Amino acid sequence: MNEKKGICFEIFSSGVGVCLFGATGDLSKKKLIPSLYNLYAKEYVRENFFVINIGSKDYDEESFREYVSRILKSEGAQNYESFLSRNFYFKIDYSDEKSYFNLYKKFLQLESRFLNGVKNRLFYLAIPPGFVEKTLLNIKNSFNPKPRNTEIIIEKPYGSNFCEALNLNLFLKENNIEKCVYRIDHYLGKDSVLNILLVRFLNFAFDKTFNNKFIDNIQITVYEEEGVEDRISFYDSIGAFKDMITHIIQLISFVAMDLPKDMNQREIKKSKIKVLKNIKLFSEKEIKDYFIRGRYLGYENINGVKKDSDTETFVAFKLEIETYRWKGVPFYVKCGKKMKEKMTRVDIVYKNSDNAFSNKYFIENSNILSFIIQPQKIMEFRFNAKSDGPRFCVSAQSWNKHFNTTLLTPSDYERLLLDAVNKDKTLFLDSVEMEYIWRYIKHTEDTVLKNKIILERYEPKKILDSCLKMIEKDKRKWIYV
Ligand code: BG6
Repeated sequence: MNEKKGICFEIFSSGVGVCLFGATGDLSKKKLIPSLYNLYAKEYVRENFFVINIGSKDYDEESFREYVSRILKSEGAQNYESFLSRNFYFKIDYSDEKSYFNLYKKFLQLESRFLNGVKNRLFYLAIPPGFVEKTLLNIKNSFNPKPRNTEIIIEKPYGSNFCEALNLNLFLKENNIEKCVYRIDHYLGKDSVLNILLVRFLNFAFDKTFNNKFIDNIQITVYEEEGVEDRISFYDSIGAFKDMITHIIQLISFVAMDLPKDMNQREIKKSKIKVLKNIKLFSEKEIKDYFIRGRYLGYENINGVKKDSDTETFVAFKLEIETYRWKGVPFYVKCGKKMKEKMTRVDIVYKNSDNAFSNKYFIENSNILSFIIQPQKIMEFRFNAKSDGPRFCVSAQSWNKHFNTTLLTPSDYERLLLDAVNKDKTLFLDSVEMEYIWRYIKHTEDTVLKNKIILERYEPKKILDSCLKMIEKDKRKWIYV
């Protein structure tokens, strides 16, 4: 491999003390505790490191360490004793200010024991949106956070609705903590998502053709095999659209952004924001025609689903970006739970040539560039060429590249945790990005509600007919079903 100099970034950290709020919750169990362990095991953070796990449940140090070791064991981890010895538990009363001052005291003790003079404090707020402001205020009053020594990671959905999101932005500004805040979307930490930018901007053939002159449409598929049984109290109040739209918009913004003037945080954000600002707010008629909602059979029987629940577990919709570059190119999205497999992919469908050859050998969708994000990381290009054998026939062929990861490759959460520790905000969302995303969510959600877009039922592993028909209205087909 001929690796170019100057574009490889080394990631490391000189040390950090972590406060993990919501340590007993689902996200911590599935992602955050394993990621923190991996950063430690891969030596991205090592000596100068400790974690205070914070929750309202009745654990003590020993029982929480047992809980962590069960999680790590189930992930196949070995030799985690030293990691465990750097994990502590703090039972908090979220509403009691005094509790935070006690936390601060505990943090200071551990800081002097483990951090060897490094002043770096990472707060991860893996807690429901309703608790975020209060917790931030208490952190502010007890820890007096400053951007030079504090990073506070906030999980989506950054408020439960547009109004709350705006209020949260205002709150962060007024309390002077915006600079410490990192709004995380873990899709931006995925190697295969970052790769979209490299492939686009480092290859003349793609750089020059990612626009409405050459591209016919773009398709995004996000399938998950799992249902929502574990997280029903959260999910039933949110649904597939709000749960996944931020991730989908990140994918779209990487595919659609203009080349940033420079490869720095400010310019990359500027390019992204131009996309978000120009997401078309569809009319009622467009939403009626191009928004599908589904729910898998059996959802209503899950313990905890509200009686009158109208929550969807599948959505398909069309989206448009009204920039000079993308005007007229539809983005089709389909995304759901309990699908036939886990699959996230972006298919860029080129226009067909219009010449004597292509008229004779017409093959639908001659060129498609596909980024398969997960579970495997693959890039594929489809083209037409002579078929094997003696006859002069044409068929669709493809090239593909499988990207390998090594044991050291950080996962999405690991990469973003490290970026935050290293104070790099490039892959985090800022307040302006959030406002544009929420504006789109609110408009779409209100229009869907007003027009009573029906909730269709689907058998697990089956795709809705109406989803297939939606794209046929535009005389197109899904590349991947
Ligand atoms: C989360 C959603 O943000 O992303 C989950 O809340 C979803 O419902 C998950 O399952 C998907 O993430 P990934 O990385 O598995 O595609």
